[in-house]
Amino acid sequence: MKKRIGIIGFGEMGKRHALEFRESTMGEIAIAGVVEPNDEMYENGCAWNKCDIPRYGSVEELLEKGAPDGILITSPNFTHLANLKKLDSFHGPILVEKPLDTSPEKISDIVRFVKQHKGPVMVDHCMRYSPIIRKARELIEKGAIGKVCSFQFTQRDGAGMYHNFRRTRAGGGGFMVEKATHDLDVMLFFTDARPESVMMVSAQHAVGGDKPDDLTCSECAERGRCRYAKESYVMKGLKVNDVAKLNELCVFAKCVDVPDNETCTIRLSNGIFGTYSHSYFVPVPGHSRIYEILGTEGAMYLTLSREGSYEGEIKIYPFNRELTTETLSFKYDGKIHYYAGPFLARHFLSLMKGETTPFTTVPQAFTAEMLGFAAIRSSMEGSRWVELSEIVPRDLADSIVGK
Ligand SMILES: NC(=O)c1ccc[n+]([C@@H]2O[C@H](COP(=O)([O-])OP(=O)(O)OC[C@H]3O[C@@H](n4cnc5c(N)ncnc54)[C@H](O)[C@@H]3O)[C@@H](O)[C@H]2O)c1
Repeated sequence: MKKRIGIIGFGEMGKRHALEFRESTMGEIAIAGVVEPNDEMYENGCAWNKCDIPRYGSVEELLEKGAPDGILITSPNFTHLANLKKLDSFHGPILVEKPLDTSPEKISDIVRFVKQHKGPVMVDHCMRYSPIIRKARELIEKGAIGKVCSFQFTQRDGAGMYHNFRRTRAGGGGFMVEKATHDLDVMLFFTDARPESVMMVSAQHAVGGDKPDDLTCSECAERGRCRYAKESYVMKGLKVNDVAKLNELCVFAKCVDVPDNETCTIRLSNGIFGTYSHSYFVPVPGHSRIYEILGTEGAMYLTLSREGSYEGEIKIYPFNRELTTETLSFKYDGKIHYYAGPFLARHFLSLMKGETTPFTTVPQAFTAEMLGFAAIRSSMEGSRWVELSEIVPRDLADSIVGK
């Protein structure tokens, strides 16, 4: 029998999940209904899915009239805790989009909620489902580079994310949480380690300014000559449907308080250390994400999106006298998140059938996001080293994962 999902927040992610979950389970998942406050977004989502989808005015109504088997929370970051709390009486599987919410306090409340909740709750740390990431983890586990010693992860993108709710800490949580939750989680997935402390430098090099907070690109007299004016979501020349930038809010508005350039040094357990850097003002083709991992027996490089093609690559440089290297290539078939979607959808179907437990858990997300908040505190307090224990509430110390 088909399983039916309800979607809270039918925007870019909600509409994409709806289509992916139906397509990659060969129709075994159907949409019970959505809660979407914005008419245009609702209509856009139905058009994207090429079908009419029931719409409900509240989460309570979705539960009562739609009777879903599973729920996806794909509303903006700052609404996740409030929406999750409305699901207290729902015991089917719940997927919460990353990040869990926008502040250490709200995220801690999510962890407390999930600890006492009866149904399974998973987080969309979609990168863990991507074949390139799973292959890299498998190679590291098998000892392809020996004992992991250090890492260098970088992420480069343009300023597109500053056109929407992500441009303020209150709306998105800051990019060390909103974006880096994926990268920090992958770093912990590769190393199996536990974060200990972090030190970070941040700057706002390009975004922010004195434009009105409600100014949008289409209403702006400078639109024609502004190189940050909203672009199409179709990545130029690559025909990849990436997450659309919903709004076209001005990136130079007064309220913009999220740094666009950050670098941190991180200490993990087992003597592992490394750096994570990201920037959001100069798009660098082929550099959506590049990960380097060094081990006692070699090095591994992951280029998650090669220049000129939407494909990924793992290069392994084993410690040998012949200086041989091995290269593995990964095609993504035009799907976002490095082809993670189909695997995520099928995992959620298994959860709804009661066949498995969450692969991407709330404690994993909590660990990555607390590391992100520790980094933010470091940069706000003169780039001092911040221990994770300064950020994590005592009652949740056991929710930090890693050996
Ligand atoms: N896993 C990933 O890699 C990934 C990628 C992109 C986005 N996301 C996450 O998905 C979530 C949504 O992002 P998006 O890009 O789709 O944003 P979006 O703005 O396109 O969509 C959010 C939708 O939620 C609706 N909404 C607003 N308040 C709501 C509320 N209180 N209850 C229900 N709906 C509400 C909005 O009208 C909008 O249509 C965010 O948490 C984001 O971080 C995750």
